[in-house]
Amino acid sequence: MRLNDVVLLTSLAVGHVLGQSCPSYSSYSQSRNPPLSSGAYKLAYQRPSPECRTFNSTLIEDAINKTKSAIFDPDLSRLFENTFPNTLDTAIKWRGVAANNSEEELAFVITGDIDAMWIRDSANQIAPYKTVLKKKTDDIASVFRGTINMQARYLIISPYCNAFQPPPESNIPPAQNGGIYSVTPSYDRNVVFTCNFELDDFGGFLQLSHDYYNATGDLDFFGKFQWIQAVQSILATSEEMRQPTYGPDGKWIPPVYTFQSQTMTGSGTLGNNGIGSPVNETGLVRSPFRPSDDSATFDFQIPANMMLSRYLESTSDIMERLPNAPKGLAQRMRDMAKEIREAINQWGIVTAPNGKKIFAYEVDGFGGQNLMDDANVPSLLSAPFLGYLDKNDTVYQNTRAFVLSRRNPWWCEGPFLKAIGSPHIRPGAAWPMSSIIRAMTSDDDAEIISAVKEVLSTTDGYGLVHESVDSFDTTNWTRQW
Ligand SMILES: *[C@@H]1O[C@H](CO)[C@@H](O)[C@H](O)[C@H]1NC(C)=O
Ligand SMILES: *[C@@H]1O[C@H](CO)[C@@H](O)[C@H](O)[C@H]1NC(C)=O
Ligand SMILES: *[C@@H]1O[C@H](CO)[C@@H](O)[C@H](O)[C@H]1NC(C)=O
Ligand SMILES: *[C@@H]1O[C@H](CO)[C@@H](O)[C@H](O)[C@H]1NC(C)=O
Ligand SMILES: *[C@@H]1O[C@H](CO)[C@@H](O)[C@H](O)[C@H]1NC(C)=O
Ligand SMILES: *[C@@H]1O[C@H](CO)[C@@H](O)[C@H](O)[C@H]1NC(C)=O
Ligand SMILES: *[C@@H]1O[C@H](CO)[C@@H](O)[C@H](O)[C@H]1NC(C)=O
Repeated sequence: MRLNDVVLLTSLAVGHVLGQSCPSYSSYSQSRNPPLSSGAYKLAYQRPSPECRTFNSTLIEDAINKTKSAIFDPDLSRLFENTFPNTLDTAIKWRGVAANNSEEELAFVITGDIDAMWIRDSANQIAPYKTVLKKKTDDIASVFRGTINMQARYLIISPYCNAFQPPPESNIPPAQNGGIYSVTPSYDRNVVFTCNFELDDFGGFLQLSHDYYNATGDLDFFGKFQWIQAVQSILATSEEMRQPTYGPDGKWIPPVYTFQSQTMTGSGTLGNNGIGSPVNETGLVRSPFRPSDDSATFDFQIPANMMLSRYLESTSDIMERLPNAPKGLAQRMRDMAKEIREAINQWGIVTAPNGKKIFAYEVDGFGGQNLMDDANVPSLLSAPFLGYLDKNDTVYQNTRAFVLSRRNPWWCEGPFLKAIGSPHIRPGAAWPMSSIIRAMTSDDDAEIISAVKEVLSTTDGYGLVHESVDSFDTTNWTRQW
C-alpha cells in the first residue's frame, strides 16, 4: 500500500464516522482503493461507497453482476465493474424537472473532474447504458430523457457553445471559469461554461436521441418538450457553419462564429483573429474545434461530418413520425445528411503518400488536407462504430491501416501500448480509448484481444481507464479516469 492510500483511507474512515461527507471522486480516485482484484494486475476497487453514488440503478447492478460472472479474468472483471457504472456513480450531479413543466425531466451530467456539462461528453457518458435500456419505464430511461432535455435546452439557447452551467432549477451556483474570451455570437456566462464550437455536439445529441428511441420506441417523448426546436437549431446553425469564406464574386463573407481566448496553448484559440482558416464551398460543415476541444488545422473535420450525416439520417425517422413536427423538417434532415455524405466522398477522400485512397482527418476544400487521426471520438478509426459505414469499406480499411501505423503523426508506439494519441496531450502519450475503439471496429480475434490487453495492462493498478498513458512508461499517465 502506498502512502497516499493510507492517507485517503484515514480520511474516508473519518467521513464514514461522520456518516455524511463524501469525498469528491477526483480525490477518491487518486488512491488505489481496496480490495484489489486477484489477477496479475491487482486492480483497485474504485466504485464510491453506495451512499456516495449519484444514481442507483437496479438494471445496471444486475448487468454488472451478470457480466462479472461471465468474465473469467478477475482483472478484466474488475475493470468492467469499476468503469461501466462510473457515470451513474459519479457524474449525475443533479436531476429534477423544468420550472415551467413538471413533466420535463432534466439531468445535469458533469464531465468527470469539472462541474460543467459538456454536450458531447454527457451524450457519450450515458450512451453505454443503451445496452441495458429496454423500456421507457426502466430506471435508467429517466437519465436518458433528462440528459436529452437538458441538452435540447442548451442547444436552443447557445448552439455554438459546448459546455454549460447547471440549470437554475438545480440551485447549484455556476462553475467558475476565469478564462478571458472574445466570442461571437455572445453568450450568457450564467448559462455557458465554454463556447468552443464542436460539430460532434450535434452528432452526440442526435445519437443519444436515436439510442433512446431505438431502445424504448418512446415516440411521444420527442414531441412533448423542446426536441423539435433543438433539431431546428442544429439545422440552422449547421447551415451557417457551411458558409464558405468567399462568395461567388470573391467577396469575403465574415463568419457568424468567431473565438479568441488568452491562452498559453496554440490549440486553445483560433487563428486569423478568431476566424480560423478560410474554407471553400463544399457542403461540409465547419468544426473550428475538435472533440478534444483543441482548435482544428482545417475546419472541415471529416469524422464529425460523418457522425452528423449518420445521425441526421437516423433521427429523421423520429421526426417523420411526430404528428406535431413542422412539414418538411424530416426531409430537410435527410437532405442535409445526404449532401454531407456526398461532400465527404468528394472532398474528404484523398490520396495518401502511399498512393491509397483514404479519408483525411480535416480538409479545407482548397486542397488543404490533414492526414492524421486523433483518439477522441468521433475519429476516423471510429467511423464504423458511428454507424457511418461498414467495417469492410475499402476506403475505411485503407484509412485504418494508415491511422494505425507510424504514417499517422499521432500514432504512439511503445512496449506497452501501440495506440493513437492526441495533440491534446503530447507525442508519445497513447490514449487507451483508441485501443477500445480499435477492438470495437475489428472482427479479428487476435487484434481484439491485444487491444483489450493494452487497456487492461495500462491502468497503473487503478482499475480505471486513463486519458493517456506514455507508451514506454505506464506510470506516466494523465487523468485517473
Ligand atoms: C443510492 O443508494 C444508497 C444506499 O445503498 C443511498 O445511500 C444513496 O443515497 C442512493 N443514492 C441516490 C442518488 O439515491
Ligand atoms: C449484485 O450482486 C451483489 C453482490 O453479490 C448483490 O448484493 C446485489 O443484490 C446484486 N444486485 C442485483 C441487482 O442482482
Ligand atoms: C421553459 O423554460 C425554458 C428554459 O428556462 C425555456 O427555454 C422554454 O422556452 C420554456 N418553455 C415554455 C413552454 O415556456
Ligand atoms: C432499433 O434498431 C434495430 C436494429 O437496427 C431495429 O431492428 C429496430 O427496429 C429498431 N427499433 C426502433 C424502435 O427503431
Ligand atoms: C472551391 O469550390 C468550388 C465550388 O465547389 C469549386 O468549383 C472549386 O474548384 C474549389 N476550389 C478548389 C481550389 O478546389
Ligand atoms: C461487407 O460486409 C457486409 C456485411 O458483413 C457484406 O454484406 C458486404 O458484401 C461486404 N462488402 C464488401 C465490399 O466486402
Ligand atoms: C511523463 O513524461 C513526460 C515526457 O517525457 C515528462 O515531461 C513528465 O515529467 C513525466 N511525468 C511523470 C509524472 O513522470
